[in-house]
Amino acid sequence: MLYFFVKFVHVIGAAVLLGTGAGIAFFMLAAHLRGDPREVAGVARTVVLADFLFTATAVVLQPLTGVWLAWSANYSLMQGWIFLSILLYLVTGAFWLPVVWMQMRMRTLAMESVKAGTPLPPAYHRIFWWWFAFGFPAFAAVMGIFWLMIARPSIPYWDQLDAVADRANLW
Ligand code: HEM
Repeated sequence: MLYFFVKFVHVIGAAVLLGTGAGIAFFMLAAHLRGDPREVAGVARTVVLADFLFTATAVVLQPLTGVWLAWSANYSLMQGWIFLSILLYLVTGAFWLPVVWMQMRMRTLAMESVKAGTPLPPAYHRIFWWWFAFGFPAFAAVMGIFWLMIARPSIPYWDQLDAVADRANLW
């Protein structure tokens, strides 16, 4: 029963990560394309809040529930699909953390434009394109994790190595 509850939390966490990420990307892009500093400022403010409330919570819970599931189901964390997922999770984090900072910076720049009654400055546009580019590897890594978690494929060579290391009590 506890196992299924934790698995439920884990799967909901995965949905929150993907859903919040995709939603944020869509709303930020739509606001940017309209080019109105007031709208960009408003959307960026909400997006920053959503990332802190939802994404950050899921980011912390996901490895905790995941490691607990692996431990309870007797999966080694060095097993190919789990090990690769953890690597991809680190890749996602490495792209997500700067994205959070960029969103805060875009919000500040847009708010300054609103106050000054000027269009969005070049610094905003520069950061926007970095934000846009960082979204692709982060999204691809999350999709990769979903696939690994659902398909649980055996990874040639790595899993044989893991089995040998396991028998020799190396980890
Ligand atoms: C970072 C460390 C993670 C670990 C150690 C981990 C571990 C696990 C384990 C052991 C299971 C299998 C549970 C079972 O068979 O009953 C599982 C399932 C699942 N995980 Fe993760 N997970 C991690 C992160 C993630 C992330 C980041 C996502 C998605 C964003 C994710 C999505 C899923 C999904 C959708 C399932 C259900 C798959 C199914 O039952 O077909 N996991 N995870």
